[in-house]
Amino acid sequence: MGPSSWFSILFITSIVAASKPCFPGCSCEIETFGLFDSFSLTKVDCSGVGSHIVPVSIPLDTSYLDLSSNKLEHVNDSVLSGPGYTTLVNLNLSYNQIVKISSTTFSKLRYLESLDLSHNRLEALPDHSFFFSPLVELDVSFNKLEEIKIGAFTSQNNGKAMNIDLSNNLISTLTRGSDYPLPNVRSLNLSGNRLRSVQGLQGIPLQSLNLDKNPISKIEEHNFLGLKSLTHLSLSNMPDLREIAPRSFSEIPSLLVLDLSNNPNLVSLSEEVFFGLRSLQELNLLNSGVESLPKDTIHHLPSMKSITWGTDIHCIKTMKEDQFHLQNGLVRREVLVCRNDRGAVSAQDVL
Ligand SMILES: *[C@@H]1O[C@H](CO)[C@@H](O)[C@H](O)[C@H]1NC(C)=O
Ligand SMILES: *[C@@H]1O[C@H](CO)[C@@H](O)[C@H](O)[C@H]1NC(C)=O
Ligand SMILES: *[C@@H]1O[C@H](CO)[C@@H](O)[C@H](O)[C@H]1NC(C)=O
Repeated sequence: MGPSSWFSILFITSIVAASKPCFPGCSCEIETFGLFDSFSLTKVDCSGVGSHIVPVSIPLDTSYLDLSSNKLEHVNDSVLSGPGYTTLVNLNLSYNQIVKISSTTFSKLRYLESLDLSHNRLEALPDHSFFFSPLVELDVSFNKLEEIKIGAFTSQNNGKAMNIDLSNNLISTLTRGSDYPLPNVRSLNLSGNRLRSVQGLQGIPLQSLNLDKNPISKIEEHNFLGLKSLTHLSLSNMPDLREIAPRSFSEIPSLLVLDLSNNPNLVSLSEEVFFGLRSLQELNLLNSGVESLPKDTIHHLPSMKSITWGTDIHCIKTMKEDQFHLQNGLVRREVLVCRNDRGAVSAQDVL
């Protein structure tokens, strides 16, 4: 049997779960999978037990620990240490009442890849809060964070790219120090905060940025300077947004998707707003105040595939064969075909 058939058997073999003895109040499950149960991981669920649950001792090979909904106010490195914690990959501390963490709180969790701190009462994240953990997923949404220093997310070797959710906090400033390397953040969700301008993001290797629902009134030139890898940008649901300065997006050449939907007070966009968006494939202007785009906009967007518009107009770029041109037959050219729920709309009406 070749290596590839062994490989498929490994994954076809179903996952088997079994309970094992556990700390009172918690449940411990072992999941084994692979041929001859060759892999196993232990999930420990101590959710909804109460604040007396910590410190909790967990089996040696624990991968998942759920400490959510326990009214916990304090967690520190002595709570999160001991056998079992060193191998932890996934820790859930959501729905507690944690007010503060320090730069050592998670320092013993050398294999931690996913940390859920959502729905707590955190007011600040100190520098290097997650320095020793190879985090991939970090959720700090629904807390009371007011100021973010981007250095909070710097990690030891900056190896893995992180997805960070900071949505639904009270963040009004985002700053960066100059003395540490920039964290390797791939996706950043700042939706539902109190940012009045785009700030502090220069040079972070972001691929996806969400700034929805912030009181930003103007997007300015150089706001996105140094975000060369950015492919998805969402600037929607911003009642205060009135203006996008010319060339605001000219420094994000990789951008594929731009969401400007539900911005009712954004009523006009100049042709130069679209300068430099050579990769842009999707533009969403659904329910925005913009009623028409300058005539030549589409020429600045050579990769454009679709524009969504008005209350429900969807335009798709298609090739059209044009018979009126030249003696030697058909000429193909690109046109925007737009439709709403009642049928076809002429592209001239919308562009
Ligand atoms: C760590 O937290 C536990 C539980 O809240 C507390 O009992 C302990 O005193 C704390 N230890 C330190 C060093 O702060
Ligand atoms: C953490 O626990 C909460 C509450 O049970 C759950 O909603 C959430 O999905 C969990 N987070 C992760 C990353 O699994
Ligand atoms: C960002 O957070 C908002 C609010 O929590 C959520 O609705 C949205 O799906 C998130 N977006 C991404 C790209 O994660």
